[in-house]
Amino acid sequence: MEDNRNKKITTASGAPVVNYEDTMTIGPRGPVLLQDYFLHEKLAHFNRERIPERIVHAKGSGAYGTFTVTNDISKYTRAKLFNGIGKQTKLFIRFSTVGGERGSADSERDPRGFAVKFYTEDGNYDLVGNNTPVFFIKDAKKFPDFIHTQKRDPHTNCKSPTMVWDFWSLNPESLHQVTTLMSDRGTPFGFRHMHGYGSHTYSMINAQNERVYIKYHFRTQQGIKNLTGAEADEMRAKDMDYAQRDLHTAIANGDFPKWKLYIQVMTESETKTFRWNPFDLTKVWSQKEYPLIEVGEMELNQNPDNYFAHVEQVAFAPAHIVDGIGFSPDKMLQGRILSYPDAQRYRLGGNYEQIPVNRCPFMTNNYQRDGQMTVNGNQGAAPNYYPNSFDGHYEDQSYKEPALQVDSLVADNYDRNAPGEDDHYTQPGDLYRLLDAEQKEHLIQNIVGAMSGIEGPKRDEIVMRQLCHWFRADMNLGLGVAKGLGFSMDEMAKHMPQK
Ligand code: HEM
Repeated sequence: MEDNRNKKITTASGAPVVNYEDTMTIGPRGPVLLQDYFLHEKLAHFNRERIPERIVHAKGSGAYGTFTVTNDISKYTRAKLFNGIGKQTKLFIRFSTVGGERGSADSERDPRGFAVKFYTEDGNYDLVGNNTPVFFIKDAKKFPDFIHTQKRDPHTNCKSPTMVWDFWSLNPESLHQVTTLMSDRGTPFGFRHMHGYGSHTYSMINAQNERVYIKYHFRTQQGIKNLTGAEADEMRAKDMDYAQRDLHTAIANGDFPKWKLYIQVMTESETKTFRWNPFDLTKVWSQKEYPLIEVGEMELNQNPDNYFAHVEQVAFAPAHIVDGIGFSPDKMLQGRILSYPDAQRYRLGGNYEQIPVNRCPFMTNNYQRDGQMTVNGNQGAAPNYYPNSFDGHYEDQSYKEPALQVDSLVADNYDRNAPGEDDHYTQPGDLYRLLDAEQKEHLIQNIVGAMSGIEGPKRDEIVMRQLCHWFRADMNLGLGVAKGLGFSMDEMAKHMPQK
């Protein structure tokens, strides 16, 4: 970065400024002269400082880092960034909360975004995940409704537990993620002490053009550390930005946070016999059956010198994959492929890929031209159409993916969900049973605390519907929540479905 100290102040077009603070007037008492252009420029630019915040994940923190390959996984993928032990790739990461605005508190109970942009020689590869292995819903069509419930009530402009639990109780596929969220993992101690997940099932393709399906796991090397519900509330009052401060300070002090990256692998034939839909984002793959395979290590070692330029303007997209990595039939993932670049064209403008943090540091050649804020030279005098007889550019067939076998029926009169898609209870129950006694207690306290906010004429209906889900996941979990909400067994029995 150029040293910008001890320089003349200038206008945006470079003219030296004679008086930065006092407006040009007729006499010391005014009025103001229209010809003081610098006054206009200053006020006008200030008025344009805000851009739309992200529709979700608006509050976040970012850093640059390095990914180093530590294990040979070339039998699964030909992706250059994962091949060659010791190979290093520069990256940018952005952590975030989901529902809050840009100025909201870092300690909210919320999933944390975990988005990584790898600057690879085959193009930028974005892995846009969370700190949870599953999600609330499994169909992109439900996303806007779900997010509306996480934002403010359109009437009161306040957050509304009633909307939240109404939606969750009507969409029981959310139970697994809600259980994770209500555990202490819903309030991690900053960003350094949590795992990250790709969450979706992706595919990997090797040099022989063979495909396997995979899930990504980033495991924190700082150790898992969470806040309890009470500690998170206290932190919200004490330091709204503590996660940002914690990450920035650690990196500034040379205490570089690290995560190890692993994958789980499922062959194409195993996807056909797996007891759940392996592309269902509300389910995990057992690590006993599909063990973690080491890939490499991510280290965060450089704070961005300017927050807006890097962290606010970075644009991640699940659409950005590279050779050797593929999508999967996961319906949510398919929806996300469309959604992110669309959001970024609105948030940052059509040429957002030219912003330095988003720009591919390697060659990009295509026939896209012009548009607002074209700042990359617009590919100079090169032809702007294809095919042409001049530039010799070509499509590279060596990057072809293997053919994908899919079910062949498209119709509206059959069930859009695959068989077994309605087991929303086994995995959340397993998760509850895995917790130790203290963690179970915290989970129940957090659920009770959150559900206590449900109010209004539909309160009982919503509470009962959600209680039923907790019971179906695990009897003791259901009993704990019911007791915490002050229900007697007699009252419960009244609401139970009669045989
Ligand atoms: C951000 C849409 C599901 C993780 C965003 C943004 C949109 C969006 C529009 C803002 C992008 C921007 O302005 O730059 C959706 C839709 C989803 C979905 C339509 C479901 C179909 C998910 C899931 C995950 C996830 C399942 C994690 C597994 C993230 C993260 C960010 C984000 C980490 C913030 C990226 C950043 O730091 O800039 N999402 N999302 N989203 N989403 Fe999603």
